[in-house]
Amino acid sequence: MKYLIASLLALSMCVGAYADEKDHKEKSHQEDQHHDDDDHKDRHHDDDDDNHRKKQLHSEDYHKEYTFGEPIVPTMDWIFSSGGRLYDNWMTAQEKDEVETTHPSWPKSNTKKSGAVTWRCKSCHGWDYKGIKGKYASGSYATGITGIFDVQGNHPDLLVAILRNSTHQYTEEMISDKMSKRIGHFIAYGLHDTDDHIDRKTGDVVGDAARGAAYFQNVCAACHGFQGTQLDWGDDDGHNYVGTEANANPWEVLHKLRNGHPGHEMVSMRPFSMKVAVDLLTYVKTLPEK
Ligand code: HEC
Ligand code: HEC
Repeated sequence: MKYLIASLLALSMCVGAYADEKDHKEKSHQEDQHHDDDDHKDRHHDDDDDNHRKKQLHSEDYHKEYTFGEPIVPTMDWIFSSGGRLYDNWMTAQEKDEVETTHPSWPKSNTKKSGAVTWRCKSCHGWDYKGIKGKYASGSYATGITGIFDVQGNHPDLLVAILRNSTHQYTEEMISDKMSKRIGHFIAYGLHDTDDHIDRKTGDVVGDAARGAAYFQNVCAACHGFQGTQLDWGDDDGHNYVGTEANANPWEVLHKLRNGHPGHEMVSMRPFSMKVAVDLLTYVKTLPEK
């Protein structure tokens, strides 16, 4: 009986999916005709089925659950990496509009930054989590603000109160208690000490580049390409490849390797050892910068 119900269910799902697909195909076909020039139209006609497939595979929609959703039973590693992405940029991590004002605790003495960026945790506390005691002791993000490295091990719920205090002024609308707890877990149990892996002065990383290459070619290349040049977030001033970023700011890249990149389908290496991330970073630094 159970089996019968299950197969009936499966069958009806198949029919449903087929109907959806058909619907979608017709719609996308109409859109094609609407948007594409004649040249394109002919090609689309020839391998319509094939094209439909490709479009679905290249659509970003199917990444949305990974990027903005949550698992039914989140593992601790997932909570840490989600908290890490919120720490990086809680606005893009939650698909929220950017705040337009400058954060009230952003020091007036620093006129190099203003607006949304001043609301990101990393802007005041650093990619190395050490604030004034770390890389942000100088440079365009120098604020004189303390790090969060020393509050590791505190109860994650304590963070909820900190984010609502007069220094921080994050509203429930911006970062809900639930999201705060994720950041709390990240800070309490999920930080790494960048000084163990990256030379603070030179930015050198001493990992196993050959192992890193193996990880990169099999994982990262799926999106970044074998040379790391398939994704480029640069502008008119020049390319910004993964190799560019790793050399300019290895502290940031190590954070993103462990936690992913907010608002995008970039994978998180959190469940693997720290050594995997360090080996990767070592290799990524050898990839093309320009
Ligand atoms: C505009 C700057 C700024 C931003 C952005 C910011 N903070 Fe802070 N944070 C501070 C300052 C200043 C302090 C120092 C203590 C105080 O005055 O409350 C602090 C203290 C803290 C502390 C306590 C550290 C300690 O040693 O007691 C934690 C934890 C913390 N912030 C977490 C965060 C998190 C998480 C975010 C992002 C959601 C964030 N902060 C964003 C300025 C900022
Ligand atoms: C499923 C696709 C995917 C995979 C796999 C992937 N990435 Fe990414 N990654 C992205 C996307 C998308 C971005 C955002 C690019 C943008 O901002 O335009 C990104 C951004 C980045 C950034 C830069 C973020 C910034 O703006 O500073 C780094 C560094 C990076 N990836 C490294 C890696 C490494 C190393 C790996 C392998 C462990 C990897 N990525 C695997 C999709 C991926």
